[in-house]
Amino acid sequence: MTITNGHANGHANGHANGNGHASIATLRKTYEDAGQSHVFSFWDKLNAGEQESLATQLASIDVARVNRIYRNAMAAEAPPTADGLAPPLVGKDISRSPSPAPEEAGPLPEEAVASSSSPDAARWRDVGLRAVADGTVAVLLLAGGQGSRLGSPNPKGMYDLGLPSSNSLFAYQAGRIRKLQALAAAHAGKDPKDVRLRWYVMTSGPTRPVTEAYFAEMKYFGLDPNDVVFFEQGVLPALSNDGKLLLAGPGKVFTAPDGNGGLYAALRRPVNANTDMTVLSDLHARGIKYIHAYCVDNCLVKVADPVFVGCCIERDAQCGAKVVRKTIPTESVGVIAKRGEAYGVIEYSELPAAKAEQRDAKGDLAFWAANIANHFYTTDFLDTVEAMERKMVFHIARKKIPHVDIATGEQLNPKEPNGMKLEMFIFDVFPFVPALSVLEVDRAEEFSGLKNAPGSKSDSPETSRRDLLAQQRRWVLAAGATIADGVEVEVTPDVTYGGEGLEFVAGNNFVRSGAIGRPEDVAALV
Ligand code: UTP
Repeated sequence: MTITNGHANGHANGHANGNGHASIATLRKTYEDAGQSHVFSFWDKLNAGEQESLATQLASIDVARVNRIYRNAMAAEAPPTADGLAPPLVGKDISRSPSPAPEEAGPLPEEAVASSSSPDAARWRDVGLRAVADGTVAVLLLAGGQGSRLGSPNPKGMYDLGLPSSNSLFAYQAGRIRKLQALAAAHAGKDPKDVRLRWYVMTSGPTRPVTEAYFAEMKYFGLDPNDVVFFEQGVLPALSNDGKLLLAGPGKVFTAPDGNGGLYAALRRPVNANTDMTVLSDLHARGIKYIHAYCVDNCLVKVADPVFVGCCIERDAQCGAKVVRKTIPTESVGVIAKRGEAYGVIEYSELPAAKAEQRDAKGDLAFWAANIANHFYTTDFLDTVEAMERKMVFHIARKKIPHVDIATGEQLNPKEPNGMKLEMFIFDVFPFVPALSVLEVDRAEEFSGLKNAPGSKSDSPETSRRDLLAQQRRWVLAAGATIADGVEVEVTPDVTYGGEGLEFVAGNNFVRSGAIGRPEDVAALV
């Protein structure tokens, strides 16, 4: 955007030549009407370039929508009014989600859940592998988060867990895609070159440039670059507790990614500025019918898991979710539960203690189904999410947000949460799904999250590394090898997707730690 009439001179009369040629006067009026005119507080002190940049940013924000999202999120958070009714929501395009309150939730009915350890799993795997071989499956990675708890400067997927192979999380996931392509080709008797899984990588403003550069530097981990599609989730302004836009600097509104549920809207936007192609249009153009979506921070993720995909296809599911058993009542995981006519996730902070402790007849936790953000969708389902979004309410995440004090111009770095980021979650669609297909999987085989900084007790780089190597140790032992105490043997996705194909280690005793990416690597470790 440029300031068209050369008046970007502090007189608030330049023209912001963005899509809509919004004049500065119009922009000012829009923000004044929205009660957000303070964003222009430092306008006169900005140089022409800074004014242009601020005007571009302001023109890109639908400030009335932001206000509405704020009011609705606050209303949804507020306790019922004196008459016992929930506070009214504002605006015709956002209403309350259909989920009843957590207090009214019921446990997930047994018949809703399939298990990956069931005898049916072999058949599901066959169905899933065939779908992959037919080119009807794609993978969707959520990698837009900023990983603030982990505290690494780079996107989480680049994190080096300190494995013998030095593989990053992205490298592991790419390796599993490559391996699965080969397995599916062999299963269907096809040429491996003819089986391709498309990998849609959702980034955000902060993570996109570094992520794209890293993939290029790593030569797409051996994948065809044409099969990797980057796209970007949206952002929303961060707000003070009373709903005012916070300024990151005198000429910049503080914005943050709109949560992993920003995925759905992002699927409908062009994947970059040089194309009209959206993820949804690409799915249709390529005849892709099934999508496996997962989070970047699970080192055990079975990317495009044929068992899960096959199970959901067989059950004719539009949307599916993997769950693992919650370990203790106080574990900080959201659970999938019955909420009214459908299922929904109850976050751990919302689950009443009595329900968290509740046991079933067998003595197991009644609310046991921990959600691990590992989802299945049909393309047809993703087409319908836009209509659901109008009924979803954003969540409030209270954070410490560095900003400029409007009165003094001072840069503040609060020690306590001073405002909020507004987010939608990927599971916010569940209440709208008539029959969510839930698959219980073994945590030790499928889930270990990387959330916290090194040295933390749980969900840390150390626990991720431990869980991944422990799984691979089990595979190597099951294949008929032995491993000396203290020795760590890594089997990378180059040789196995899920423990299969390791016959070549049988009879060996591993006495040295190291990574096996080819059968020839065994010799150096025994
Ligand atoms: P988390 O909610 O754990 O967030 O993301 P995070 O960014 O990784 O970590 P914190 O909360 O800042 O410490 C779960 C998954 O959702 C993705 C993340 O990349 C991760 O795969 N995510 C999260 C997005 O894609 N976009 C977002 O806006 C937030």
